[in-house]
Amino acid sequence: MSLLVVDNLVKTYPGGRKSPPVEAVRGISFAVEKGELFGLLGPNGAGKSTTIGCINTLVRPTAGRILVDGVDITRAPPEAKRRIAVVPQTRNLDSDLTVREILTYHGRYFGLPAAEREARADRLLEELKVADKARAKPKTLSGGQQQRVMIARALMHDPQLVLLDEPTTGLDPQARRLLWDILRGLHQRGLTLILTTHYMEEADRLCQRLAIVDHGRILTLDTPAALKKTLPGAQVLDLWVRAPRPLAPQLRAIPGVQNLEHVEVEGDGDEHERLRLFVDPKDGLLDRVLHAVREGGADLHHVNLAQPSLEDVYIHLTGKELRE
Ligand SMILES: Nc1ncnc2c1ncn2[C@@H]1O[C@H](COP(=O)(O)OP(=O)(O)OP(=O)(O)O)[C@@H](O)[C@H]1O
Ligand SMILES: [Mg+2]
Repeated sequence: MSLLVVDNLVKTYPGGRKSPPVEAVRGISFAVEKGELFGLLGPNGAGKSTTIGCINTLVRPTAGRILVDGVDITRAPPEAKRRIAVVPQTRNLDSDLTVREILTYHGRYFGLPAAEREARADRLLEELKVADKARAKPKTLSGGQQQRVMIARALMHDPQLVLLDEPTTGLDPQARRLLWDILRGLHQRGLTLILTTHYMEEADRLCQRLAIVDHGRILTLDTPAALKKTLPGAQVLDLWVRAPRPLAPQLRAIPGVQNLEHVEVEGDGDEHERLRLFVDPKDGLLDRVLHAVREGGADLHHVNLAQPSLEDVYIHLTGKELRE
């Protein structure tokens, strides 16, 4: 049995006097198995936090069901709800307490005996690599350290399923990498993790399976490798051009070009368009492409040839870039 089943989840936030209702989640279904590291990948406003909030019973669904170990979470007894922990998107560490006190208070709230909460706090501070900050106040910590304390706190009551809402947003690359290692470690010791992110690379490297979410719907769901395999060609050739007339017909006709898409470029106002060619590299392919660009009287601004990434999957599905 899946540890978590989200079945046709809908959440519409009611509107106010001046604001219309918001359909944040429009029928999302997925299941997460025990021990899995699962991702929800999507841009701002996709509905990731709303989905996490519903699983965590902080947001009340408009429709749909959420089962944890087969039990409807809204009807689950407190013991069942306790098996879930959330690391929210916004940092909310109590500024009056030391890092270690934050953990032990949380343990006390969940009814852990004193000796156990002390021991567990120390073990988790070690595991999350913030043991040296045990006596510090949160505001003296870096963003990455604060995030690791948030995770340590979430783990105090020994949950099975940990929901992490954009755990690495705003962290510098080094702090992000350290957090990736830590999340892999937690996964290896058997925890089931669900994380949300808008970083394609993060989802690709970390998640065993992921759902790409946009406008409250799941566009696709699979392993990163399988998602990339759905793209038409073996490689992706991007051209940023300024062309007096359409280049697409000539480019499409080149042998090895499997598909061509126009990508919406975020308003950079310099009139370049981005053409994306899915190609199976063949001898002379690049020559032919550059020739077609020149023949079309176009000004070639930039070229990129790469292995397909999850970003390409996203662009392929939505026709637009994922804003970061
Ligand atoms: N409490 C609320 N009341 C009204 N609308 C809300 C509320 N919370 C979220 N929304 C709206 O619901 C939509 C989805 O928001 P949500 O926070 O779930 O997205 P997200 O994928 O987590 O985005 P982000 O990457 O910015 O965190 C957005 O349009 C948002 O403005
Ligand atoms: Mg969010």
